[in-house]
Amino acid sequence: MGKKRKRVGILTAGGDSPGLNATIRGFGKAAIGYHNMDLIGFRDGIRGLAENRYIELGSGALSGILTVGGTILSTGRDKVHKMLVDGEVRDMRKTILEHYEKDDLDALVLLGGGGTAKNALRLAEAGLNVLTLPKTIDNDIMHTDTTFGFATACEIATEAVDRLHSTAHSHHRIILVEIMGHRAGWLTLAAGIAGGADIILIPEIPYSVESVAETINARVKRGSTFSVIAVAEGARDLADAADYEAAQLLVKSANSPEAVRAAKAHIAAVVDSQREHTFKLARELEAATGKESRVTILGHVQRGGTPCGADRLLATRLGTAAAELVADGVSGVMVAARGQGTEAVPLTEVAGKVKMVPADHDWIKTARQVGTGLGD
Ligand code: F6P
Repeated sequence: MGKKRKRVGILTAGGDSPGLNATIRGFGKAAIGYHNMDLIGFRDGIRGLAENRYIELGSGALSGILTVGGTILSTGRDKVHKMLVDGEVRDMRKTILEHYEKDDLDALVLLGGGGTAKNALRLAEAGLNVLTLPKTIDNDIMHTDTTFGFATACEIATEAVDRLHSTAHSHHRIILVEIMGHRAGWLTLAAGIAGGADIILIPEIPYSVESVAETINARVKRGSTFSVIAVAEGARDLADAADYEAAQLLVKSANSPEAVRAAKAHIAAVVDSQREHTFKLARELEAATGKESRVTILGHVQRGGTPCGADRLLATRLGTAAAELVADGVSGVMVAARGQGTEAVPLTEVAGKVKMVPADHDWIKTARQVGTGLGD
């Protein structure tokens, strides 16, 4: 009797990101056409898995999606161990395992970021063969050189920084552009450098308003009457950063479910009170420099549309590497980009961790050496 054809499930989870479809295609073409497997795609991320809603993905479905933004499977931010079902929070791991067995799956591939790695690890512990692929515009996943979506978002944010220069210049204004990245500064730092922002503010370097104002005033003295500031959505001034850190410590030291709940509610309140921080900074800088300021929030435009060439290449490399790992029976890993190649990293080393920009990172040195203010 011949060997059973492998049957694999794939899904996209967390926020969408350019390159998801390119990755589905890369994985699918290699899995179906090269390794002779069958492929199904679960709808709406973890929710579709828990409800066993899927479509068969044949070569036809994979054709023409390389350049398409978003995800043909749709996505969601559900958690496998805490899903809201009919108004109740439920642990769906047992149900998911039953579907996995009923669907006769040999492996499940999840395309996602930090939250997805945690979901995947929980599923691996429940007995599923899972692999993840690092998706996020934030570039904040551990043990991979980069993540798909980041390069495209960087292009979009860079173009925004570029374009804001001429209008800032024309009006002698300060323009602050808020860039995504969650709690990490990779995207802002990269786009800020690439777009030649005068000041770059990232979460890893809490800023002082005085230092930012000094950089602007020094520019004015040198004859540059405008300034463009790239502000990470997670960037905070020294006081706000200290409040956030204290709130986080509270969660870490909480030793009962009630204390954890209270500490988490406190963090949420702190985050909420800091939500409009870029507007607050704009007002503070107007007061400190006497210059008019404007704020641009780039928002979800950074996640939309076709992936750039670098992301298509990365997505295809990671997708095909994942298909090979499935063919070899490897699971419990994230497929990481390493130099020109790829590497399988145990999920235990990735889940629950966030890659922040290290203080001694080369990009920080680079920014400083071209005279960019970092607010410190
Ligand atoms: O993780 C990607 C990301 O775009 C972050 O940069 C941002 O903080 C978050 O998702 C926004 O999430 P949502 O799409 O749920 O508003």
